[in-house]
Amino acid sequence: MKKIVTVVGARPQFVKAAAVSRVLRREFEEVLVHTGQHYDQNMSDIFFEELSIPKPDYNLGVGSGSHAHQTAEMLMRIEDVLIKEKPDALIVYGDTNSTLAGALAAIKIHIPVIHIEAGLRSGNMNMPEEVNRILTDRISDVLFCPTNDAVMNLKAEGIEKNVYNVGDVMCDAVLYYGAQMDKHDSEYYKNRLVSLKFNRAQIGDEWYLATIHRAENTDDIGKIEQILAAFEMLDRRVIFPVHPRTKKLVESAVDKHGYQNIFFCEPMGYIDMLYFLKHAVKAVTDSGGLQKEAYILDTPCVTVREQTEWVETLGGNCNILAHPEKEDIYRKVAETRIDESAKRPYYGKGDAAEKILKILGGLIK
Ligand code: UD1
Repeated sequence: MKKIVTVVGARPQFVKAAAVSRVLRREFEEVLVHTGQHYDQNMSDIFFEELSIPKPDYNLGVGSGSHAHQTAEMLMRIEDVLIKEKPDALIVYGDTNSTLAGALAAIKIHIPVIHIEAGLRSGNMNMPEEVNRILTDRISDVLFCPTNDAVMNLKAEGIEKNVYNVGDVMCDAVLYYGAQMDKHDSEYYKNRLVSLKFNRAQIGDEWYLATIHRAENTDDIGKIEQILAAFEMLDRRVIFPVHPRTKKLVESAVDKHGYQNIFFCEPMGYIDMLYFLKHAVKAVTDSGGLQKEAYILDTPCVTVREQTEWVETLGGNCNILAHPEKEDIYRKVAETRIDESAKRPYYGKGDAAEKILKILGGLIK
């Protein structure tokens, strides 16, 4: 059996790997490497447990740090694993520091790099994710794109060899785990949510679901205050699972303003998140994954960013961009009309992992 080393490290990658590993292991020996970029129980372990992701063969324990420190530590430790394991190829997902470190460590010692979720672009080089994507795509041997737009982005950069539009592996995950979500009733999920909350707000029967964690929105308190002020004005409770990078900032904003309409809680597991997203009146987020999960689950979304890589979601205002300003966010959440008829199944039918396996079976012999 041919051997593939897969490198994951951050929350969205656990979801993508869950969808692919299950299928990949039918025909390949997979060695799973967790860089340790995300390490908290509810940022990491819970995903492995809930999604039945195989236990990592290596946990590199890199943890937090500046971009250079974090990436450099990963590079050194991943190289050691690659030299020991001598895989036929390496898989990386998405656009995090773990993605770039895995790809760079592999190419330098001539191990072919497979990039899943290739070709996405925001056009904003101030985002660490944009830098990670462009560099990873440039050094990848096989590029699996989630959409046709992603294929076109690569073409514009002169990357055309071994580029495949297979659909989105996150869509595979939403459809597969969505079926598990439906096994429980609303009481079950509400009880779980209450166990995660850390302020006094009650949930109610209708809610908005919000997540904000990007560096561009969480680097200064002014921006997060604007965003939370918009949530405070809305007509239903806002459930806000707080990413650890945002926690200190949120806590100081709460101390100052004592929000009443926001239900702050710890990060949730994937299946709980799917439930609260599917049943939300709208989602408000700056996450890449959540915009698309909202689209697939038919929940309208407001994205607090200046641009999105998932341009397909914008049709019919199913997803709409907002500046990190109180009035703009409020207006777009409260007033935007949505034309559901603009929706198309851009992200595939949930068979992206199967397509990837078929192509890799032909390429790696
Ligand atoms: C990373 C990705 C981002 C992705 C996000 C998903 C990069 C450059 N960014 O951002 O693209 O959308 O993951 O969540 O790779 N922390 C904890 N516990 C954890 C993880 C993080 O406390 O388990 C805290 C640390 O204080 C850390 C901060 O969060 O300094 C940021 O974590 P890091 O992994 O560097 O980046 P994210 O913001 O999570």
